[in-house]
Amino acid sequence: MRITVLTLFPEMFENVLHASIVGRSIAKGLVDVDLVNIRDFALDRYKHVDDTPFGGGAGMVMKCQPVLDALDSVKHENSYTLMMSPTGRKYDQKMARELSGKEHIIILCGHYEGMDARIAKHVDEEVSIGDYVLTGGELASMVIIDSVTRLLKGAIKEDSASEESHENGLLEYPQYTQPADYKGDKVPAVLVSGNHAKIREWRVAQSLVLTKEKRPDMYAVHEFTAEEKKVLKKIDQGKIDLEGR
Ligand code: 6GU
Repeated sequence: MRITVLTLFPEMFENVLHASIVGRSIAKGLVDVDLVNIRDFALDRYKHVDDTPFGGGAGMVMKCQPVLDALDSVKHENSYTLMMSPTGRKYDQKMARELSGKEHIIILCGHYEGMDARIAKHVDEEVSIGDYVLTGGELASMVIIDSVTRLLKGAIKEDSASEESHENGLLEYPQYTQPADYKGDKVPAVLVSGNHAKIREWRVAQSLVLTKEKRPDMYAVHEFTAEEKKVLKKIDQGKIDLEGR
């Protein structure tokens, strides 16, 4: 996969692209990330990429010409183009999965007060990462790069992705590691019992209970699997110790 980022601040990406799973995935050749500076496409002597808004108002607006020339310079028939924008569709794990199947993603990062509205006609989709305002699309685009890259085959262990929060519409069960007793705070006994069926059942129960409690919005639309229905029934009947004793 190739990801091309169009930005006025390519330097913001340097550390992110060298660390952790994203860094390793680039090193392994699973993904290539190109940074294109929109300012390189400005035509005037002072490299202007923005101007004052028609109709008046505060702030500056990014101009069509440098942005669309930058876009045209990297776009081909297999490119899927995103524009990061606080007014876009809210990003989620399902979109991350969809994007992870694309051959080439172009991410256009806005800055200042926004982009000339005519630019949106040239992208496939406008994407927001949540209901708050960022200074620019750069941090948001790094969220996309991270969440998509870790889904690529070979980026992380096969089974670690499918068990995670949001992958199956539920939050992930709690995880513990050594020591089994930290200053008197013990891990649930079931996890050190060696009984794999019981461990599995406890984890499914934890996922269900945690999601219901912390994310009632997700729980309300969840389609329960046969296994989950069975576990819910056992919880109702008091047959599962949620404390894992
Ligand atoms: Cl994609 N851009 C900006 N500027 N702010 C945001 C955002 C994007 N997503 C949430 N807030």
